Amino acid sequence: MTTNQAFTILSKISGPHIARIITDAIPNMSRLKLWYISRQLRANVPVAKIIHNKWFYGLKFYTNKYTLDPRPDTETLVACVINDYKRAKHIEIADLGTGTGCIICAIAKNINASGVALEKSFRALHVAHRNIKTLNLNDKIIIKRGDFENPTILPNKTFDVIVSNPPYIAPDDTRVDCGAMHDPKMALFAKNNGLSAYEHIAKNAKNWLKNCGRIYIEIGIDMESDVQKIFEHENWKFVNSATDLGGIVRVLIFENI
Ligand SMILES: C[S@@+](CC[C@H](N)C(=O)[O-])C[C@H]1O[C@@H](n2cnc3c(N)ncnc32)[C@H](O)[C@@H]1O
Repeated sequence: MTTNQAFTILSKISGPHIARIITDAIPNMSRLKLWYISRQLRANVPVAKIIHNKWFYGLKFYTNKYTLDPRPDTETLVACVINDYKRAKHIEIADLGTGTGCIICAIAKNINASGVALEKSFRALHVAHRNIKTLNLNDKIIIKRGDFENPTILPNKTFDVIVSNPPYIAPDDTRVDCGAMHDPKMALFAKNNGLSAYEHIAKNAKNWLKNCGRIYIEIGIDMESDVQKIFEHENWKFVNSATDLGGIVRVLIFENI
């Protein structure tokens, strides 16, 4: 099957833009592969899960069914950290729930940062490891399997900055689009109306940050006041918030006082 034939068939299912992305990523497709991809597209499997990669902050990340595909919203968090620390000589950083590793890798590629990528899912950690290696960041980023609900999982007062895009969707939220249903549940859903990961992180992350260190945390739509309350209850000082390109507040920044 030629690439042009595959392009024509995939165009009919998903339009020329997506057909071009897939045929560029998978040249010389067999008929069997084309049939399989057509089935996936009809089942609304996201293109990133079909071609196993997604661009994030100008970098290409491998992704699979065990990881959340990096989202453009999360680039807001990365941009905030880079902007705030671009003049720092060096920072130590921890990424809680690293998934593909997209946040910590994008930061370490743009400023002088090194640190730990923490993840509970063993299979997601494999993906993070693969991306860290492909991006030549082995000497800067260590991967660690662990649960951010455990206060002793990281060493005390080690980091200048903590970043996290934790799971924040309430289990009964019906607004989850069908593309996200192909992401792992552990990456999406959190108990207590989507707030339980924030509660654990607000309690534990103070132990891991140096004094006056900062946490940059991604939030879901309309979660700003609930998450701010959770962090202030644990004596964090609110520093700032940042919006995505759609004007939605996506990132809250707190300082360890
Ligand atoms: C929303 S995804 C974010 C992934 C990646 N950081 C990103 O922004 O694309 C949340 C990640 O946290 C991980 N996770 C969920 N609960 C966790 C826990 N208790 N401890 C550590 N990691 C956890 C999930 O497996 C998933 O990889």
